[in-house]
Amino acid sequence: MQPGQFPDDFVWGAATAAYQIEGAVDEDGRAPSIWDTFSHTPGKTWNGDTGDVACDHYHRWPEDVQIMRDLGLEAYRFSIAWPRVIPGGWGQPNPRGLDFYDSLVDALLAANITPFVTLYHWDLPQALQDRGGWANRDTVEAFLEYAEAVVQRLGDRVTHWITHNEPQVVAFVGHALGLHAPGLTDQRTALQVAHHLLLSHGRAVPLLRSARAGMQVGITLNLSPVVPASQQPEDQRAAALYDALINRWFLDPVFGRGYPQELLAQLGDLAPQMADNDLDMIAASLDFLGVNYYFPSYVRAVPPQQAPLGVATLTPEELAARGFELTAMGWPIVPDGLRDLLVHVHREYAPRAIYITENGAAFDDQVVDGAVQDQRRIAYLREHLLAASAAIQEGVPLRGYFVWSLMDNFEWAYGYSKRFGIVYVDYATQQRIPKASAEWYRRVIAENRVPLED
Ligand code: FCB
Repeated sequence: MQPGQFPDDFVWGAATAAYQIEGAVDEDGRAPSIWDTFSHTPGKTWNGDTGDVACDHYHRWPEDVQIMRDLGLEAYRFSIAWPRVIPGGWGQPNPRGLDFYDSLVDALLAANITPFVTLYHWDLPQALQDRGGWANRDTVEAFLEYAEAVVQRLGDRVTHWITHNEPQVVAFVGHALGLHAPGLTDQRTALQVAHHLLLSHGRAVPLLRSARAGMQVGITLNLSPVVPASQQPEDQRAAALYDALINRWFLDPVFGRGYPQELLAQLGDLAPQMADNDLDMIAASLDFLGVNYYFPSYVRAVPPQQAPLGVATLTPEELAARGFELTAMGWPIVPDGLRDLLVHVHREYAPRAIYITENGAAFDDQVVDGAVQDQRRIAYLREHLLAASAAIQEGVPLRGYFVWSLMDNFEWAYGYSKRFGIVYVDYATQQRIPKASAEWYRRVIAENRVPLED
């Protein structure tokens, strides 16, 4: 294979998540999720933005599937809104909520697009949060009932399942930093939440797999290579600790190694409560690992009263001063971090298969004469795909790539201020405008390689 080429059976996709695109938050029996509550709380999101309407995908999905078809997409990763399926958190599934996904799946299959379904992309029913949310072990059981309801309805046609999206972000950004729903700021809670998320993952794996022969079940982790800000031993120690917290705290138990001992020791009584068999269940064998890659983390040691564990990441200003190019999120653009990460995960944990379930960038896109010339996004995608193809050359069993995102959407606490789509969304009119990157990605898919010229 030449650089930038991909194996014949490589899967080209795009990703979204329910709360970020659907809107229709009170239709057909849907009840509020923690993101409805959070986004409606003053001061929590940019400009007070909410997912009430978002991309109105709940009504416009036929047009969106047509866009996917025009792109030649081979797979589409989307998430199911739990509060549509079991609005009160417990009890009978709501058939009207499931009808929506049923129709979507049929339309995707008719367009030859393989659905990859994420069960939990952050929109916990508020009713469950009212009983403690993911900090309450009962939520694991509620998740299994929800997973059962979804697989009963869609499992005859959906083969690829992702239990959770980025449990690290759910646990830490939602429960320690308070920047995501439910907006808590308690480290002990965050670690307990992480444990329950992982446990619910591990328990859902056999449930999903037993629904039908041939199911492919995985989890999506956001992984970030951790680089010390200097060669000083303190910074190197800080980097190792940060890596244990953001990457290994999730990878290690999922791949049967339990929680990183050195971090457990540091955490002392902040460590989560667990039952005897939890770690065995979390280590359920996977068909694939989903990797979301955006950027490496550059870290240095700081006094412990300044940041938890005495670790801080370099700010966008510091990164810019070091010469990094940044996206509109302030994230450094480091394509080689993707290759390093994939090779490392392959050598260290040997997952059966890997999919890049998210990768992409936000830039300040402008519509000019009805078109969006997002050359920087094209460059970003090109460099990352070259890195992915290099990883395959090095033996990584990378089976597919999903660009984040199919279309601009509600970027959580950043509201509609950050555009990640390869399709532009004019929120005032709901008009979709494929950006230059969409046309470029169409060529990637058609040629199964990074085009030689743009
Ligand atoms: C990831 C999320 C996804 C999107 C991208 C930019 O952390 O999984 O929903 O917000 O970041």
